[in-house]
Amino acid sequence: MPEQQIPNEHQQPVVIIGAGHSGVAVAAGLRTRGWRGRILLLDAEKETPYERPPLSKELLKAGAPDESTLLRKEKFFLDKGIERLGGLSVESIDRSGKAVILSDGSRHAYHRLVIATGSRARALTVPGADLPGVLALRTKDDALELKRVLVADARVAIIGAGYIGLEVAAAAAARGCQVTVLEFQDRVMSRVTSAPVSCFFENIHREKGVRFVFGAAVTAIEGVGRAEQVQTADGARFPADVVLAGIGVVPNQEIAEAAGLNCKDGILVDDHGRTSEPEIYAAGDVTRFTSRIDGQSQRLECIQNAMAQADSVAAHITGQTPSEPEIPWFRTVQHGVRLQTAGVRHPDDDIIVRGTPADGKFSVVYLRKGRLSAVDTVGGLSDFRPAKKLIAQAAAIDPALAADPSIPLTGAALQPSY
Ligand code: APR
Repeated sequence: MPEQQIPNEHQQPVVIIGAGHSGVAVAAGLRTRGWRGRILLLDAEKETPYERPPLSKELLKAGAPDESTLLRKEKFFLDKGIERLGGLSVESIDRSGKAVILSDGSRHAYHRLVIATGSRARALTVPGADLPGVLALRTKDDALELKRVLVADARVAIIGAGYIGLEVAAAAAARGCQVTVLEFQDRVMSRVTSAPVSCFFENIHREKGVRFVFGAAVTAIEGVGRAEQVQTADGARFPADVVLAGIGVVPNQEIAEAAGLNCKDGILVDDHGRTSEPEIYAAGDVTRFTSRIDGQSQRLECIQNAMAQADSVAAHITGQTPSEPEIPWFRTVQHGVRLQTAGVRHPDDDIIVRGTPADGKFSVVYLRKGRLSAVDTVGGLSDFRPAKKLIAQAAAIDPALAADPSIPLTGAALQPSY
């Protein structure tokens, strides 16, 4: 739709709650799509919106600046006429009055509302979890606090061996800390990858001096005035100067729930990002939706999803067609080794290892009913792009060909399914 046809008569702004990847992308997308009305971007954090992935990677490195990459420069918001209000949280949504109420009591009417509140670190709830020295990592302030205490020889107990726990383990080990990772499951990254990849990364961590305790159920954090040790269900105690909980995230859906929007471990949205209330949209980590690929209900914690949903929302508000979404993808870097995943694996997918893990570079191909559902690439990205294309086609794969790394992944596709 050409710019002049876009409605601009609305007195009230599009109000966006949350200035993470999705919230900022909705604001930018509205302008790209010609929206000329007011846009108000609200965020609980005061500073210029920044990226979260570097917080557990680059920012923790010794000597690295105490800054994360900005999502957009301050000038972008000024130039695009995107009004920002930081340092205040939205307390409630008045659906009938079409307004949000902030923590300072101020009220902001909206023409359309977009909830892009993301997720927060799941809180450890055992006794002693509130002692000083027990940390989580989600915001830049969290990362800076963690960085201050990751000093040489500090005893660091990390609870949870997901991306966050392992990226922090790598940073802490590199800074000379004594690192112990306590994981409930029997291998690292069990939620997101298969055993061969878990085993490969566990070995890298062990080579760098990281200790692992699997099947560890943390029952208490003990200490006088501050955390001194972590206790597990079998009675073992792990001395710690620093305790980091990286035990997953929960969606920030409370204001949506309180406003009566349909939520179920995430705000429920359709393909356009619409919630159960037609004038309220949601995008990013906070949403739950039906996968276009396999029809399953899912909540995705990744930038690709944040950007795709933001585009759908901006398109719908301006009456346009959204861009074709990318296949979801995820990445982590630990001890300088990158794991990049295309697609969303299910635990019962068939797996094919492509290449030799001992070489430091391999892929794992996931098949669901013979069709490509996801690919993990470790230490190299050559299978990543072809994987995204083939997953989008739901390509049927010849397992024997896929197992041969000398054949390009595309050569293992039997035929496009449509
Ligand atoms: N004790 C020990 N381990 C636990 C406990 C517990 N009480 N609770 C959860 N865990 C383990 C889980 O078994 C899992 O392996 O913590 C790990 C958490 O991993 P994720 O769910 O992947 O979460 P996390 O690593 O915190 O990452 C959260 O942040 O970097 C982003 O996008 C990334 O989605 C990811 C999000």
